[in-house]
Amino acid sequence: MKIAIVYKSITGNTKIIANAIKEALSEQEIIYFGEPKDNINADIYIVGSWTDKGECSKEIKTYLSNLENKKIIYFGTAGFNGKGYYEMLYDRVRKNIKESNKVLGYFYCQGKMPMSVKDRYINLIKEHPDDKRLQVSIDNFNKALTHPDNTDVENAKHWIKSIIN
Ligand SMILES: Cc1cc2nc3c(=O)[nH]c(=O)nc-3n(C[C@H](O)[C@H](O)[C@H](O)COP(=O)(O)O)c2cc1C
Repeated sequence: MKIAIVYKSITGNTKIIANAIKEALSEQEIIYFGEPKDNINADIYIVGSWTDKGECSKEIKTYLSNLENKKIIYFGTAGFNGKGYYEMLYDRVRKNIKESNKVLGYFYCQGKMPMSVKDRYINLIKEHPDDKRLQVSIDNFNKALTHPDNTDVENAKHWIKSIIN
């Protein structure tokens, strides 16, 4: 079985999960590991992305929407979490995948965000001190700082093995 791991990561979080998946599948034939490119010929495509304004990256959107009659597994990292959030994100990703494909599963974990995001919240709180959602966002930012952590990595390994083996 030929497996391709195709992912887009800007600050390295999604790459950590991509590496974990690669490591978990070391017994399998991984024919490609890296950013999207044309003409990757695999049986299973494990496709991953960071989350950009509620969607997967534009490169991964394009890549997914060009796949037809394939087996696909999706993984992502996102700065936020919370009940139902990853389901919502995945629903949006799913819209880029044609019906002729078969999706075998998906996985998300949290990924730390750049400090500029926190600075923006802090400035907004100065302007809107009564907006409780901003404090929730800062708490979430702080929570994300340690992710992906070892548990995320182990969860990703476990998850991919349960699908592939
Ligand atoms: C411009 C920008 C937009 C983002 N939009 C979202 C978002 O809508 N939802 C979310 O949960 N995280 C969002 N994030 C956080 C990233 O998706 C998260 O930190 C991710 O783990 C980064 O992955 P990478 O290190 O592989 O690039 C955003 C980050 C940036 C820089």
